[in-house]
Amino acid sequence: MPLPSHSATTPAFRVRLARRGDGEQLGMLLAELGHAGAGDTATVHWVLSHPEIEVHVAADGSDRPLGLLSFSHRPQLRLSGRIATIDELVVQPNARRQGVGRALVQRALERARVLSVKRVELQLPSAPTEATYRFCEAMGFRDAERGVVTRAP
Ligand SMILES: CC(C)(COP(=O)(O)OP(=O)(O)OC[C@H]1O[C@@H](n2cnc3c(N)ncnc32)[C@H](O)[C@@H]1OP(=O)(O)O)[C@@H](O)C(=O)NCCC(=O)NCCS
Repeated sequence: MPLPSHSATTPAFRVRLARRGDGEQLGMLLAELGHAGAGDTATVHWVLSHPEIEVHVAADGSDRPLGLLSFSHRPQLRLSGRIATIDELVVQPNARRQGVGRALVQRALERARVLSVKRVELQLPSAPTEATYRFCEAMGFRDAERGVVTRAP
């Protein structure tokens, strides 16, 4: 069956759940996001089998992931409901501006509705670009009400 194409002039891709066999390509996409060395086999297997995180990929006609979105969700007291975070989102450079990122976010939003999530956050990369901000804006994300600071446990 032909893959759904998002326009007559762009290559076909389909959004599906990541599989263990995608590990190498997930590592390459994470490196593209600035996390060189991430995506080792043990971590990929652990994350893919965890109940509170989903990893979706956009796969090309050869079923090879060209974009990655990870989406975690958990209950939150102040919302009296669930919150979800798009933790990682990246599209390989030669596949950008073809609707891949949009399709991945749309899939995450569909899942958020199914899970009755009340708020969806998007984690920006450590070095966001103009494209990052334009994409966020196009997908309807707005500045968060408060910042987040981190440290090791
Ligand atoms: C941000 C990123 C995921 C976008 O993926 P993409 O597949 O290229 O995005 P899409 O083609 O689905 O773009 C959807 C819309 O976002 C906006 N957009 C995306 N890239 C843009 C750019 N470089 N300049 C201006 N607008 C842009 C446009 O409105 C676009 O719609 P249009 O093409 O119909 O005009 C991709 O550039 C990327 O991987 N960047 C590096 C990692 C990163 O920044 N990740 C965090 C994302 S919040």
